Amino acid sequence: MYSEKVMDHFTNPRNVGEIENADGVGQVGNMKCGDIMKVYLKIENNIITDVKFKTFGCGAAVATSSMATELIKGKTVEEAEKLRNKAVLEALDGLPPAKIHCSVLAEEAIAAAIKDYKMKQGHDISDMQSCPGCCGKCGESRE
Ligand code: FES
Repeated sequence: MYSEKVMDHFTNPRNVGEIENADGVGQVGNMKCGDIMKVYLKIENNIITDVKFKTFGCGAAVATSSMATELIKGKTVEEAEKLRNKAVLEALDGLPPAKIHCSVLAEEAIAAAIKDYKMKQGHDISDMQSCPGCCGKCGESRE
């Protein structure tokens, strides 16, 4: 049912924890299941030098968050902004259809943390998508 990569990231998740004095923090909830994801970013010279996450969520949410944080570490803010759950799913060799909505949580939490970072930097964020929490639809609409 789950790929080896999903099981690996679930049983040995990377980047779990929090960052003190993070440059950006984002928290989102999944309306489908009530699970919660929080992401912390450390950003230096526009590069994501560290990222950590904490989740009150299922195994698929843990695995996708672990992989998503690995995918954005060392990347620029702009590159991280482009991360979509589709890329995370591909990197994990997929998830069962009923668990796809779980992967959206990581994408949204990272987007929320970047938005928080930009707000703290005084950037204009009026063109950024605002997400009040997962409706389960953006996985299709934001690819
Ligand atoms: Fe809630 Fe997976 S069931 S994130």
